[in-house]
Amino acid sequence: MTSAVDRYSFLPGAPAFYPTIVGAEGCHLITEDGRRILDGAAGAIVGNIGWGCTEVAEAAAAVMANGYAVPLWPTPSRLALIEELVEHWFPEDFHHVFFTSGGSESTDSAIRLARAYQVSKGREARWKVIGRHPSYHGMTTGTMAVASHAGRQKGYEPLLLPFPKVPWDDPEQVLKVIEQEDPATIAGFIAEPITGAAGACLTASDEYWQVVTAACREHDILLIADEVMTGYGRTGLKYGHQHFPLQPDVIVGGKGLGGGYVPLGAVTATDDVVATLAGSGFMYFTFTGNDAACAAGAKVLEILRREQLVERVAAEGPGLEARLRTAFGRHPAVTDIRGRGFFYGLELTVSRDAVVAAALARDLWVYPAGSGPVAEAVMVAPPFTITDEELDHLVATLREAIDEVAGA
Ligand SMILES: Cc1ncc(COP(=O)(O)O)c(C=O)c1O
Repeated sequence: MTSAVDRYSFLPGAPAFYPTIVGAEGCHLITEDGRRILDGAAGAIVGNIGWGCTEVAEAAAAVMANGYAVPLWPTPSRLALIEELVEHWFPEDFHHVFFTSGGSESTDSAIRLARAYQVSKGREARWKVIGRHPSYHGMTTGTMAVASHAGRQKGYEPLLLPFPKVPWDDPEQVLKVIEQEDPATIAGFIAEPITGAAGACLTASDEYWQVVTAACREHDILLIADEVMTGYGRTGLKYGHQHFPLQPDVIVGGKGLGGGYVPLGAVTATDDVVATLAGSGFMYFTFTGNDAACAAGAKVLEILRREQLVERVAAEGPGLEARLRTAFGRHPAVTDIRGRGFFYGLELTVSRDAVVAAALARDLWVYPAGSGPVAEAVMVAPPFTITDEELDHLVATLREAIDEVAGA
């Protein structure tokens, strides 16, 4: 007989590999058979405030029985989340938001937004959105086309628009590609401020971001910061782009915005961009601004502020880095350690899947990463609430796992 687990797993990997999770508390996931797994990656790098937060569940429950209102209609939860974002999170000049149910819907909407912006300006020839190599922006056909993640694109190539790609680190190549493609055909440029799952925290130079920002300004190409992983405090600032001379016109968020409690994403654009779009009929999704998701999201953001968790990431991030460098700085199976805040990647000479499995066997979850130039990597990105002892345990356990796989 097919078990429920087998039926559920319309997903990559072997279902039996993953234990059934029946609860969560702080930085731990609790399995059916009572194991407590240290969540060293906040799930899929979503659980910024940690797990078991009943306040968030109560906020969602308080409005859930209201059911559904078409996104065009205001509700108190929608308005409260907009106010929280505009008052406390968005940079200056960003006063508008388009809600979605996650990262892919957000980045896909940003691609659509770049096109709508250019069409509103009468530039029908502009359709290309430049992406970077490597990168990941989601699993809709639009976001797959704009990204460069060979493993996740394989087999789907005929469905994907031929969006141009630039290297993640080379400013000269960026300028060359823009000229070759002809700026009069380019609508947008999308970038993760620090590359997530595709590159395990690859970080470009300040010069790179200066060149990208200046080129986008010069040609009126909309610059989209994909902050789905890096946003809402993960790197120690509200948004990852704020570490660099990178000035986006559009900021895309997901993951940590709902803290992993609800599917929620948000796209914001500068007031100028929004004014240009007026009247363009930018269509919403059925679940744009889902009431329970908005209520939960506003509570997650309130908790981040109240508990000063972003400041905590900024203060404790160097401690995480120091631990990783002590444990892996000279490790033969680790070729690079990079990132900032609570967002680190370890590039490996051994199989990431084997490392993830060896860590899980020791009740630790780390995130598998890498594509293209980054063949094998894992990411360490715990909840912002992780204690010093838990950080020690995380790094020591990961060391054991990598040692085992490397035969060290
Ligand atoms: C940078 C980035 N953008 C977009 C996405 C897609 O988000 P989602 O999986 O919520 O659709 C992800 C997911 O990992 C991501 O890391």
